[in-house]
Amino acid sequence: MKKRIVLLPGDGIGKEVMHSAKEVLTAIAEEYNHTFSFETHEIGGAAIDQYGTPLPETTVDACKQADAVLLGAVGGPKWDNNPSHLRPERGLLGIRKALDLYANLRPIKGFKNLLHASPLKEEIVSGSDLLIVRELTGGIYFGTPSERRDNGESVVDTLAYTRREIERIVDKAFQAAQGRRGKLTSVDKANVLESSKMWREIVEEKKAQYPEVSVEHVLVDAAAMKLITNPASFDVVVTENMFGDILSDEASVLTGSLGMLPSASLNESGVGLYEPVHGSAPDIAGKGLANPVAMILSAALMLRYSFELEDEAKIIEDAVQSVLDAGYHTADLQIPNGRKVGTEEMTKLIVDYIRTLNASKCIASCYY
Ligand code: IPM
Ligand code: MG
Repeated sequence: MKKRIVLLPGDGIGKEVMHSAKEVLTAIAEEYNHTFSFETHEIGGAAIDQYGTPLPETTVDACKQADAVLLGAVGGPKWDNNPSHLRPERGLLGIRKALDLYANLRPIKGFKNLLHASPLKEEIVSGSDLLIVRELTGGIYFGTPSERRDNGESVVDTLAYTRREIERIVDKAFQAAQGRRGKLTSVDKANVLESSKMWREIVEEKKAQYPEVSVEHVLVDAAAMKLITNPASFDVVVTENMFGDILSDEASVLTGSLGMLPSASLNESGVGLYEPVHGSAPDIAGKGLANPVAMILSAALMLRYSFELEDEAKIIEDAVQSVLDAGYHTADLQIPNGRKVGTEEMTKLIVDYIRTLNASKCIASCYY
């Protein structure tokens, strides 16, 4: 299979972990006879420094031509006081909109030997395996431009959705639930917001099309509570942009390992942007300490969702699990009696597993 992949390392540890993902994908390409070509472009703070904008046209054009996009992370203290149109985050929001990446999938599943690192008791968090399906290109993030009024004495942000925008994300979530445990939790604030009432109506309308999926509606405040008290009760959670932003950060710490969580943002034609849930971690950037696993697992999601290479995606996921099982971990994690390694060594262990696995298969199938 031949694919063009655009790499947007961005800022901070984004650059280091992107390097790791590229090494893993190169190993997969060599071992399983694929041709992946890589093209690197700037986004976020790095793009502001080089081109005076967080999202240069050349970056958008390259992403539009690509079969898939991998993104590291954007942001850092250097740009914190910039005016809002010159903040690194604008680059991220801009590329989501430019590629119409309306469906953000954030799977959250604990790794066996890391559950002790959760802030929750192991018996509460064990068995948690949920998928947050967050609407990503509408809502309050993209309302009519926010403005300060009355000489700065008042301010307006608007939360707008079209029926079609809600329908497509709800469909995506139902389909995801069909392929999992068949339970959909729709999260809204229908006791207050008109947009949430419409959201709830649409979920109710759609459920007839997916009879095998059971549906519940939960208000966002109650959902935030339930994520802590009974996380294992969730399967697929679907929600609008800002609720999804907040709940996915909350859910990401359940497993005690923010550095492990990947995400996929998809449009209607299957082109996707894949990025870790964690940020640019400026405090450890450039030190070789970053955990590359979330980025590497994001590359696995790319193989699964954009290229339909399920076997190769699984191999990467197995490689990560085996390396953790062997006790290796980066500085952000603790494994009892484990061995702390840096970004490069962690990557090499994962790459070695992929290469050895393939070699042993060949020995088995080629000679016996
Ligand atoms: C995320 C991030 C972004 C968001 C920021 C960096 C704009 O928090 O991907 O969750 O709010 O969507
Ligand atoms: Mg967020």
